[in-house]
Amino acid sequence: MAGHARPLQLTVMEHQFSNGRTLKLVVGDITRQQADAIVNAANSALAGGGGVDGAIHRAGGPSIMQELDKIRAEVGGCPTGHAVVTGAGKLPARFVFHAVGPVYRDGTHQEPAWLASCYRKCLELAEENDVKTISFPSISTGVYGYPIRDAAPIALRETSRHLDRPETTVQAVLFVLFSQADYDVYSACLRATSTRDG
Ligand code: APR
Repeated sequence: MAGHARPLQLTVMEHQFSNGRTLKLVVGDITRQQADAIVNAANSALAGGGGVDGAIHRAGGPSIMQELDKIRAEVGGCPTGHAVVTGAGKLPARFVFHAVGPVYRDGTHQEPAWLASCYRKCLELAEENDVKTISFPSISTGVYGYPIRDAAPIALRETSRHLDRPETTVQAVLFVLFSQADYDVYSACLRATSTRDG
């Protein structure tokens, strides 16, 4: 391979469904992407943290945590596989959906089901709140240790199924991947699915 230039790596990939809805992948920081709703990879205590959670609270300002404080006081937190909604503070969005992904152990402790549930709950919240565009990070594949090669097919399957439905307010799903390596995994998976499904 020495002497060969690396092929150009595209950092945007878009899949259009037959009903006109779109699923798009980009590399970037989710706090900088405009969308009706931004999804956070949160924890059950809704207590904030590092990774995308930290970035969302830093960029969105204190109002998001104030709303989470109220939710925590009312219902105690958010179980794995579920999501709660707040405003988006200073973020370029109307809502943040705080989804709690599974901590990965070995893949046999319901992690795939919990991860799929996270995406579905966020899409349900999108429908309830008349959200047309929603951006997701790669839930659970950071601190929570879910192997991205196993997580990406689940994320893409759940969002694609939703976009394919005849009745949905969601017109566009955007995955904002934080590194080229993560993007490459998602794009290979999306390409494989698109080729298989036509
Ligand atoms: N934009 C997009 N993606 C990001 C950003 C960002 N600004 N920052 C981090 N990421 C990526 C990570 O690189 C990873 O691929 O988001 C993915 C999810 O990683 P984490 O944020 O660590 O989320 P998760 O694995 O679900 O762990 C959740 O981490 O921060 C804590 O409070 C959070 O306890 C919870 C846990």
